[in-house]
Amino acid sequence: MTGIGKGVNQKGYNKLFSLTPFADFESIGIRMENTTIECKPNGPLMVRNVKKIIDSDGQELAPKQERVLCRCGQTKYKPFCDGSHIAARFDDGNRSEDKGKSDVYIGDEVTIYFNKRLCNDCEECYTKFPSVFGSQGQIDIHPEVEDMEKIIGVIQNCPSGALSYTADDLAIIDPAREPAIFIIKNGPYQVQGSIELLDVEKGDRASDEHYVLCRCGGSANKPFCDGTHKNNGFRDDQWFKIANMEDITKELTRVSIGKRELVIVKRGDVLSVFSGACLHGEALLSEGFIEDDYLTCGKHLWQYNINTGQLVGDPSMHLKKLKIKIEQKELLIDRDELNEVEEIET
Ligand code: SF4
Ligand code: FES
Ligand code: FES
Repeated sequence: MTGIGKGVNQKGYNKLFSLTPFADFESIGIRMENTTIECKPNGPLMVRNVKKIIDSDGQELAPKQERVLCRCGQTKYKPFCDGSHIAARFDDGNRSEDKGKSDVYIGDEVTIYFNKRLCNDCEECYTKFPSVFGSQGQIDIHPEVEDMEKIIGVIQNCPSGALSYTADDLAIIDPAREPAIFIIKNGPYQVQGSIELLDVEKGDRASDEHYVLCRCGGSANKPFCDGTHKNNGFRDDQWFKIANMEDITKELTRVSIGKRELVIVKRGDVLSVFSGACLHGEALLSEGFIEDDYLTCGKHLWQYNINTGQLVGDPSMHLKKLKIKIEQKELLIDRDELNEVEEIET
């Protein structure tokens, strides 16, 4: 089998039509056994016998019989699990009501099925063909549109297997590709090549050949990615996104991350980020106000210097000031520093 049309699309998802020769596993000391992925309860993914794992920087990991990949999003050694899921109390419970039933859309020439449970919101179908697939958050399929070839092309390139179709005169087959996992930058694990996902119910008309697994820990559809990584600050590096720059319009902006509170202070073009709870009574400083160089808590009027975070009247007490970085119109903080911010009940 030779490669035909191998490529990576604009979102970094590997296209389905990338057929490459099966690897010679035995020549590198890996026995040919079933390729499997096991989701450990509240823990990592155990990946067995998958020779090809491509990291988010495009580098191929050295082949190993077994790999332990993080799916809580907390490890310091991405993509590998470092045990952080235990301290993070990672809960892999599936919060979604979606049981994997497909919606069916019947057209004159083609019937399209959409299994929402599997969709990782890669944006491909509705950005490429909105008249058929709808828009973000509102996949609403109209299969009667004339360009059949294009519809089928989009469905075949759906990385998660959420989309499928039936049509007269067309044999529908999954591509026969070598087992591989592509780690999407700041995103999920894209799996191809019929790697068996042990003990997980995928729902109606799911592909056994490809699917997409959550890596950030935030999906409501675990173990599948549901696109939450785009909004929860997940990144491959140590930086953590807390806001889009365009959303920081007020002098004080509240940011909640789990039980941690931050406040973004904006003075003209200058931004600072502090721990967001008052040291006095855990009131939210984002609900306070700024006067001159002081941030005042609205509850009992404790005041903090907005350059240093120091409490007025007691230099031994200060808010935690976090390092920030602005990249591609996103405000980022250091993940380790975030973990030093005390958790509070609000
Ligand atoms: S249905 Fe498939 S192609 Fe469309 S957004 Fe979901 S994963 Fe992407
Ligand atoms: S699953 Fe172990 S560190 Fe994330
Ligand atoms: S990687 Fe977690 S929701 Fe996509």
